[in-house]
Amino acid sequence: MRPRLGVNVDHIATIRQARRTAYPDPVEAALVAERAGADQITVHLREDRRHIQERDVDILRRVVKTELNLEMAASQEMVSLALKYSPDTVTLVPERREELTTEGGLDVVQNRESLQRAIRLLQDGNIRVSMFIDPDLDQVRASHKLDAHAIEIHTGRYAEARSFKERSEELGRIRDAAKAAAKLGLGVAAGHGLHYDNTIPVARITEIVELNIGHAIVARAMLSGMEVAVRDMIAQMREARADLVRTTGR
Ligand code: PXP
Repeated sequence: MRPRLGVNVDHIATIRQARRTAYPDPVEAALVAERAGADQITVHLREDRRHIQERDVDILRRVVKTELNLEMAASQEMVSLALKYSPDTVTLVPERREELTTEGGLDVVQNRESLQRAIRLLQDGNIRVSMFIDPDLDQVRASHKLDAHAIEIHTGRYAEARSFKERSEELGRIRDAAKAAAKLGLGVAAGHGLHYDNTIPVARITEIVELNIGHAIVARAMLSGMEVAVRDMIAQMREARADLVRTTGR
């Protein structure tokens, strides 16, 4: 059985926020992703609101028919928002304002107390909690000790590996972390930096039951839709002139 696919629609919102327009709408993208077979919609509501907005989470909660996975920092503000919108899963991620994207896993070992508080509050609100961690056995064990439902293994280092040797070593770490987590009864997801050329080896790790992928899917969607988008604009321009001829004879 294949892993479930969580489609991350953050970067649809990135394009919208670049112009502060109403389009493209990540909600619409989520519905298309579900129609295409996505098992889950994933969004990261960042503290700086650089892409996904509260409005998106609010509407997604009401229209997503599969499952909604909210990635967020374990701050008080974000925990309150999660309890308000009630996603199926919260994935706790580290967050630094200056980073381009999530650059590493949570340090569960060092931040046990604050994470424990957030996990309890979320679980009391009937929200499953997943911990986004590097493929590190100490982090897996610490996540289990905090009673998280699941972990999501950060695949960024694997995705960025430059040599075959480095990539194989990173894949080995992901495999070991996945096996250890599954043995402890944790659900195992993975994600970050996965694209059409590097997902297969990760998807072959049977303990991994879910992959969350965003950037590569949005990037491919943009290019595969480019031809239709240009044709549609040319058709409108042609229609404008045809209409002019019809109405003014010019
Ligand atoms: N999983 C987590 C926890 C993330 O933070 C992200 C990026 O927001 C992803 C998956 C998706 O990563 P990418 O956009 O590189 O596919």
